Amino acid sequence: MENKIITKYWNKIDPLNIQDYIKVGGYDALKKFIRDMDARTALEEIKKSGLCGRGGAGFPTGQKMEMVAEKTEKKYFICNLDESEPGTYKDSSIVDNNPHMLLEGIIVSALIVGAGKAFIYLNGHYEKQKEILAHALEQAREKEFLGKGIIGSCYDLDIEIFQGAGAYVCGEETALINSMEGNRGEPKLRPPYPTDSGLCGKPTCVNNAETIASVPWIIVNGGEAYSKIGASCSPGTKLYILGGAVKKPGVVEAPTGTTIHKLIHEFGGGISCGKELWFAQIGGASGRLITENELDTPLTFSRDCPVPLGSGAVLIVDKSVNIYDLILSWTGFFRRESCGKCVPCREGTFRLHEIAGRLKDGEISERDKEALEDILWTLNNTTFCPLGKFAATAMSDAVEKLGILGD
Ligand SMILES: Cc1cc2nc3c(=O)[nH]c(=O)nc-3n(C[C@H](O)[C@H](O)[C@H](O)COP(=O)(O)O)c2cc1C
Ligand code: SF4
Repeated sequence: MENKIITKYWNKIDPLNIQDYIKVGGYDALKKFIRDMDARTALEEIKKSGLCGRGGAGFPTGQKMEMVAEKTEKKYFICNLDESEPGTYKDSSIVDNNPHMLLEGIIVSALIVGAGKAFIYLNGHYEKQKEILAHALEQAREKEFLGKGIIGSCYDLDIEIFQGAGAYVCGEETALINSMEGNRGEPKLRPPYPTDSGLCGKPTCVNNAETIASVPWIIVNGGEAYSKIGASCSPGTKLYILGGAVKKPGVVEAPTGTTIHKLIHEFGGGISCGKELWFAQIGGASGRLITENELDTPLTFSRDCPVPLGSGAVLIVDKSVNIYDLILSWTGFFRRESCGKCVPCREGTFRLHEIAGRLKDGEISERDKEALEDILWTLNNTTFCPLGKFAATAMSDAVEKLGILGD
């Protein structure tokens, strides 16, 4: 069964040349959509595929698209390319290696939901990717894959790049929309969800770049073929970002349901020479810590999966790493990135970072230990958006699984 969908042509075609992508079947999904399908039949293929969001939450893509498609007013489609999770660079790698696959996915997805305008919300630091995308957009317009009357059809669509200012929370879809509207980049209360009231109050479908890049393959090969790849609860392939103590770090594509053990040994070439595995962190700084006896856990987007896949970052930590430095860096990140809208997160991330500092200096008191329990509970249960929970995850696991507080 096909295991490479998104990365199939990486390093084989020139990403700056649309003709190279066309030669290997690029834009065939768009042509098929225009000539042989309509929005409804294409949507059915996405639903059949079982594709679920690769931005972290794993929401069924077809279901989200349908919620927007059934609205009759003006609508928008947004590709979320904010990608600010530490250790995560899969979405920028898609742009670097095959930007037209992403554009084709955006075009087809936008036409499925009936949007006349799409945006790419780009990470504030991605200057190189901005240039690549601008160049690719120009080429797509020249070929009439974008604009008025796409390849002779009655479909119109344009795509605009919107570059954020680099805040992590702006990857959250309501904060992202706020920032596009010129408001403070902080999350909004849901409901209403963006599918009902998103950009400028209009129904908006926000999808992650990796999710969208899977769409052309599904349209060409059919939803059923896609649904047979990987884990049945959340089918398809996933981009994993291997980092830390592995011999071959980088982005790899493997079916969902692949175990961490397999990722390390088959895809990452094994643990780096002279190093001994301690634990793995799955999903970036907001991810859970996995110890050696859990390495055979298949990674999926199912709610039953004990290890949320999140962004797909897999950090391998060896025994020579100073855990207190690592904790200080995680907590510092969330303290900096808390948007300050709600007290539990604004204060909680600040206090967590203070305690992490004392932990590193060997000055942690009994009072700190009690406060830590309180802060972690508060972050886990009372914050306005998931960033609070994210800030608590690694510290909670470090306490429970690695015993960082001692006896
Ligand atoms: C704090 C925070 C940061 C997020 N950052 C991103 C991000 O950088 N990219 C992304 O696609 N989704 C991110 N998300 C998830 C988005 O809110 C949203 O669920 C996603 O873009 C939907 O696309 P999908 O269904 O294709 O996954 C973030 C969520 C939270 C709570
Ligand atoms: S949890 Fe943190 S990031 Fe989210 S709204 Fe509250 S302060 Fe902002």
